[in-house]
Amino acid sequence: MSFIKTLAIIAIVSLTTPVWAGDKTAGEEKAVSCTACHGAGGGAPISPQYPILAGQHENYLSQALMQYQSGERKNMIMAGLVAALSAEDVADLAAYFASQSSALRTLD
Ligand code: HEC
Repeated sequence: MSFIKTLAIIAIVSLTTPVWAGDKTAGEEKAVSCTACHGAGGGAPISPQYPILAGQHENYLSQALMQYQSGERKNMIMAGLVAALSAEDVADLAAYFASQSSALRTLD
């Protein structure tokens, strides 16, 4: 009986744990193409039309990327760029840009 309970607990925990915890080191490598517009570390965009990513909340960044993928957020440039990203790529990129410092002001 306790074996069954243990299995049930493992099943519940694995269902509620986020699929990917972002790895910012992996994210840095994946972010090379992003810096063409969003600037070094995502903190110095080449033009004001490109948002600052550095220092933004990690869950905001991953949510935004998933919304470009699903079409919930519509932007021709970003839609093309995120099309081939896996869930792991999204998490790694969000972890990397969130870890960078910038002048961006966010709520604690
Ligand atoms: C060709 C230029 C360009 C490149 C390259 C680019 N982006 Fe963007 N990005 C944009 C533009 C333009 C927007 C604003 C789109 C909008 O208005 O929704 C944006 C918006 C975003 C946002 C939403 C930011 C916010 O504050 O809501 C995220 C997150 C993002 N980009 C991540 C990335 C990542 C990750 C990469 C690399 C895989 C990348 N971008 C590459 C142009 C670019």
